[in-house]
Amino acid sequence: MAIILPDLPYAYDALEPYIDAETMHLHHDKHHQAYVNNANAALEKHPEIGEDLEALLADVESIPADIRQALINNGGGHLNHALFWELMTPEKTAPSAELAAAIDATFGSFEEFQAAFTAAATTRFGSGWVWLVVNKEGKLEVTSTANQDTPISEGKKPILGLDVWEHAYYVKYRNVRPDYIKAFFSVINWNKVDELYAAAK
Ligand SMILES: [Fe+2]
Repeated sequence: MAIILPDLPYAYDALEPYIDAETMHLHHDKHHQAYVNNANAALEKHPEIGEDLEALLADVESIPADIRQALINNGGGHLNHALFWELMTPEKTAPSAELAAAIDATFGSFEEFQAAFTAAATTRFGSGWVWLVVNKEGKLEVTSTANQDTPISEGKKPILGLDVWEHAYYVKYRNVRPDYIKAFFSVINWNKVDELYAAAK
């Protein structure tokens, strides 16, 4: 077995005009495929550790030193992108009453949550991700990670994530990352976020 690139759960142009088809082709077919290929190349050197990337990245010290950084980068890249595709949809969705109440209790209101998420995404220097996670205390938290680092390595369970690498937005939004972040909020698959929240809390 090897890790395989999952198909998108919708057409490449399904998220237009918020996320354009050219970006989706490049991002999924080229960037995500490269993470898959490079993760497989690393895993092949140590068949004894298996292929459970979530378990491996939850305990990075357990990864053999000669492939550790390759798996953090490429195994993380695969997990982050596989999740990211599922976190978007062309359908209109909304948080469940339970998740909406947790967001209100944590951030004050949905608008304040969106502002906190947007600020974290805007100020993530260089390449990385911004997340809504369930932390070790079972509470919601907005956090961000550099490169392809996953919150799983910090003991946190991601329930929403936004890729803020330039490859995620530069074709359409050029240098204007805030417009891309705003557009993302129009395509969030809250049904998937609800599902992850229910499993994580
Ligand atoms: Fe990406």
